[in-house]
Amino acid sequence: MWFFTKKKKAKERISYDIGAYMVVDIHSHLLPGIDDGAPDTDTSLKLINGLTAKGIQKIITSPHVMADIHKNTPETIQQASNILSPVLQASSVNIPFSYGAEYLLDEQFLDKLNNGQILPLFDDHILVETPFLYRPFNLEDHIFQIQAAGYTPVLAHPERYLYMFTEQELFFKVKDLGCKLQMNVLSLTGYYGKSEKDCAKFLLENNLYEYFGSDMHHERHLWNFSEFRVDEETARLLDKNYNQILNRNLL
Ligand SMILES: [Fe+2]
Repeated sequence: MWFFTKKKKAKERISYDIGAYMVVDIHSHLLPGIDDGAPDTDTSLKLINGLTAKGIQKIITSPHVMADIHKNTPETIQQASNILSPVLQASSVNIPFSYGAEYLLDEQFLDKLNNGQILPLFDDHILVETPFLYRPFNLEDHIFQIQAAGYTPVLAHPERYLYMFTEQELFFKVKDLGCKLQMNVLSLTGYYGKSEKDCAKFLLENNLYEYFGSDMHHERHLWNFSEFRVDEETARLLDKNYNQILNRNLL
């Protein structure tokens, strides 16, 4: 009888709620007014409350750092955090909240790396992204340089890079080079499109992800994140990946 109970408990791990697989959110845009995420502290608070309502227990937010559009530095990010902190303290939000950044691998990235202008998400892990539509010609070199500087690259939402989905060996190659892969959980809802959803499932089938994130920017993201339930097939895929997803180790 005891064995039957154990077996049943193991099966209960399958959840149709995508938040249940994340626990710690390592990718979001919740600091007020410094990128295309929350424009003000009211929105920051609303999004953070929405994440906690879905069971997220810790948030490491990650404002964009780009040469052209979002020219953030460790100082601008810290200033935004200083604005939000007292608002969080005065509210009922009571979960650990910290920040790193999301770095676009653009022509200025290596300067930032070499000048020590890098904010890791945690430990030595830094979150990086590439353009959506085309492969940066120096992708492998960027990975190498990040590692040579003592960091571990975490590639944000690989399922959204259609140039990779059309050249699937690239996923395996960046993994082999030591890059960790982070899925946007909203990809599984079809929010970004069918190709992105199919690609996320392909990466799950091949056990290529180590981290999940919400990439929460605004209330539409929150609504999708809150309301969506994965289908049976996807729940089984998520369950199969459960042990290798490392988010909960960051609690
Ligand atoms: Fe992002």
